[in-house]
Amino acid sequence: MLPFLTDHHLEWKEKARALAENVVRPIAREYDEAQEYPTEVKDALAKEGFMGLWISPDYGGSGSGLLTLCVCVEELSRACGGIGVAYAVNALGSFPIIVAGTEDQKKRYLPGIATGETLTAFGLSEKFAGSDAGSIRSTAVKDGDEYIINGEKKWTTNGGVAHLYSVFAVTDPESKSRRTSAFIVPKGTPGFEFGKTEDKMGIRAAPVRELRFTDCRVPTENLIGGQPGLGFKHAMMTLDHARPGVAAQAVGLAQGALEYATYYAIKREQFGGPISSFQMIQQMLAEMSAKVDAARYLVYAAADALERKLPNTSKLAAEAKLLATDTAMEVTTNAVQIFGGYGFMKDYPIEKYMRDAKITQIYEGTNQVQRLVIARALVKEASQLSFLDPYIPKEVQKGVND
Ligand code: CAA
Repeated sequence: MLPFLTDHHLEWKEKARALAENVVRPIAREYDEAQEYPTEVKDALAKEGFMGLWISPDYGGSGSGLLTLCVCVEELSRACGGIGVAYAVNALGSFPIIVAGTEDQKKRYLPGIATGETLTAFGLSEKFAGSDAGSIRSTAVKDGDEYIINGEKKWTTNGGVAHLYSVFAVTDPESKSRRTSAFIVPKGTPGFEFGKTEDKMGIRAAPVRELRFTDCRVPTENLIGGQPGLGFKHAMMTLDHARPGVAAQAVGLAQGALEYATYYAIKREQFGGPISSFQMIQQMLAEMSAKVDAARYLVYAAADALERKLPNTSKLAAEAKLLATDTAMEVTTNAVQIFGGYGFMKDYPIEKYMRDAKITQIYEGTNQVQRLVIARALVKEASQLSFLDPYIPKEVQKGVND
């Protein structure tokens, strides 16, 4: 029994592991090389009910929750990080509707997402607005009962493949705090086209594309939440929910790499014995294992806290993303090191883990942004620590110097 996980979670974990081993691992290299979206994996996931895990039964899902989603993303990513994120991005794309959509929007769109018939993606970042998500330039201008969207989006995972896009655009350029709004834009809407497909270092099974909007008209009922000006808040709430998923992808990658490295170490003989008998290798493996477990349980804690709507979840989600993705980078790099010369070669799967891990430190908020979110929350919480006043130098305390 693993901490945090009930029988229900474990059932899904087992199902995800079986699918990962039978369907994903055997084709991971082929899709990485071809840089193609694995439709057969999506079909298998949809058939077995994986697409409705994070959606309430009120809207056709199984209501299994965020923690189940994370456990499944972890298992898929243990076999292929690209396929792990190609799946997880459906949650990211649908979270704006789930956390902020109107009842009508939920009823209209979530059932199709839950069956896997409708794939979703998230359009926030732009060429000139990555970490500074508040500075997007795409616009949406109200014209009667429609909004006209113009602009471009960059780095949309599953762009082109997805059927439904959560798109953020400026609706009030004069406002500071209510500048942007989020819209549901279906693929095929006139004026909505796809641009460049990126050629990537890792996660190559998940297509990443530009989105282009030229006088693209959507009805006002596609404004997420029905009220303009709340786009930035909706984006932040979405990312709070999605970051544990990226963190779970990182845990899966780290676990997969650790297993390859450990198995290689018991097989590989040098200086008359298996390299697993050398203390320097043992130290590496032990530290990798401890870090993977620490990251895993922080991810589970963050997903569980979000599911239970506990306070301060932004901080916990950011901490999980930071710790798990930095761990994935370190563990996959060390796994390549343990494989030595073989590790550097594309003949073996380990170098792919290192390539796939890198993006987890960048997308859904760079790890520098995660540190910012954590530090801001810490500083805010510090006002509750006034019981420490007697232990702080008098001359440092507010007002003493005045
Ligand atoms: N929940 C709700 N509201 C929030 C919030 C949260 N977690 N965080 C901030 N807000 C609110 C604030 O309360 C504030 O509201 P008021 O104006 O009413 O006071 C408002 O939003 C602005 O907040 P900040 O002043 O903190 O905003 P900022 O401009 O300083 O930005 C930031 C903060 C944390 C750096 C933010 O811009 C950010 O998270 N940037 C990273 C964006 C990101 O993660 N992009 C990834 C895109 S998805 C992806 O990677 C693609 C993919 O396909 C996988």
